[in-house]
Amino acid sequence: MTHHTMRDFLAALEQKGLLRRIARPVDRMWEPAALAKWMYQALPEEKRFGMYFENVKGYKIPIVTAALGASTAAYATALGVEPEGINDAWVRACRNPIPPKVVDRALCQEVVVTGKDVRLSTLPIPVWTPGKDKSPYLTTITVTRDRDTGIQNMGVYRTMVRDETSVVPNLAPGRQGYINTLTWTDKDKAAPIAWVIAAPPAVHLATVANLPYGADEIDIAGGMMGAPVAMVKCKTVDLVVPADAEIVIEGELHPGETDMEGPFGEFAGYMGPVDRRPVVRITAITHRKNPIYYGYTSQMPPSESTTIQSLTNAGVLLKTLRYDLGEPGVTDVFIDQTFGGLLAHAIIAMKPGYPAHSKKVGRLVAAMSPIKRVTVVDDDVDIRDHTHVEWAMNSRYNPARDTDLINDVYFPINMDPSVRSRTSENTMGSKIVCDATLKIDAGTFSLPPKEIMMKALDLWKEIGLPEFEIPKRAKLRIDRS
Ligand SMILES: Cc1cc2nc3c(=O)[nH]c(=O)nc-3n(C[C@H](O)[C@H](O)[C@H](O)COP(=O)(O)O)c2cc1C
Repeated sequence: MTHHTMRDFLAALEQKGLLRRIARPVDRMWEPAALAKWMYQALPEEKRFGMYFENVKGYKIPIVTAALGASTAAYATALGVEPEGINDAWVRACRNPIPPKVVDRALCQEVVVTGKDVRLSTLPIPVWTPGKDKSPYLTTITVTRDRDTGIQNMGVYRTMVRDETSVVPNLAPGRQGYINTLTWTDKDKAAPIAWVIAAPPAVHLATVANLPYGADEIDIAGGMMGAPVAMVKCKTVDLVVPADAEIVIEGELHPGETDMEGPFGEFAGYMGPVDRRPVVRITAITHRKNPIYYGYTSQMPPSESTTIQSLTNAGVLLKTLRYDLGEPGVTDVFIDQTFGGLLAHAIIAMKPGYPAHSKKVGRLVAAMSPIKRVTVVDDDVDIRDHTHVEWAMNSRYNPARDTDLINDVYFPINMDPSVRSRTSENTMGSKIVCDATLKIDAGTFSLPPKEIMMKALDLWKEIGLPEFEIPKRAKLRIDRS
């Protein structure tokens, strides 16, 4: 079962040795972020850990980062599944969504600060690219609501702290949070908006899903948790937020009020562009007694941002292909974790059923997701093993015949320098689909038949040669030899 609070999850992570407490006092303006950068830049995935900064100078509130997305193992722990079960867990959650329930009392409202007592500097909001970001940034769940349908949306939109009582979220045109705020501001009304910090882990991980507009991520978080997520009405705006979160920041986005947002270090590995964005006036800060502050580490990949976006969106994509688009032959989806579920490289494993079926599936993925490169392989390839995928590319992919280029694609966020233009309104790019499935019967593999390989394995052990775990790549090949 997935953990019901961030604290339960952190305890489970610590037990597994995947969380480190750092007792030395740290300065939120540079130290947590810079240390997290070393972890992602220097340590291999299996050695990474969540970081729990117990003593933040000037604060009684600790900062936690990287816990949800240190590695595939940490992410799987958040969902209460094994790493191999992550895709299946999302497929189940998306097929069995559970709407939230509204409760009267909430942990996240044990302390309520409103009006002139609101000061953002009471929270230890970190600077994530010290020396380069304009100011501290909120990197967490943003909640908005469509005024006409009443349906809420959760997404992560980097949010710049402007002063003690206002912020500037990167609500870029085309993004669902932006569309929601327009349903209010177009009618000259203030749009309600809230940031949720340290909610139940499944809520955080569902938030980064790229769902169709009008689908609320909270329902698939409920599906993942196997129970409705408890939500509570905000104190000053007309939204509901996860009741068991540690901290909630409420605000109003007034029509016409804008400011420059950025620079902020982005997941593509460069400083994101500076653009004009709406200003939000903070109306309340509510929190648990003795709360924990949580912020995602992003910037130069790999990062927590790239890890969580890849893993969530691979599962959601698999569900959409198999159950919404009638492609049961698709057996697995992997999104490159070095760059993230947005604009990255997806690898699809499938059993093609007819000529060019695999190309069609690749084009579907390109059309319905932000993914920039799509590679389709047969289901005898381990799509998480890049050496196996490279082998398929070399042995089954004929570039002139097996490539589709898709032109005139609008990228609604202006973060990928390869497609960046001077203004975010005109960010046109392209996509590529590579079909690396076999087009003919190429015969059997150049390995001895399975019986001989298994006899040789016994011989290996008898001789006392070094022990090994059979890689999935080898299993798949030997099974067909
Ligand atoms: C740390 C972090 C920062 C992000 N910042 C942004 C951002 O500023 N703008 C944006 O459009 N997407 C950003 N994303 C990606 C979105 O959260 C993600 O695509 C999400 O699905 C958007 O929700 P939506 O599809 O409901 O709009 C960020 C993700 C993470 C993990």
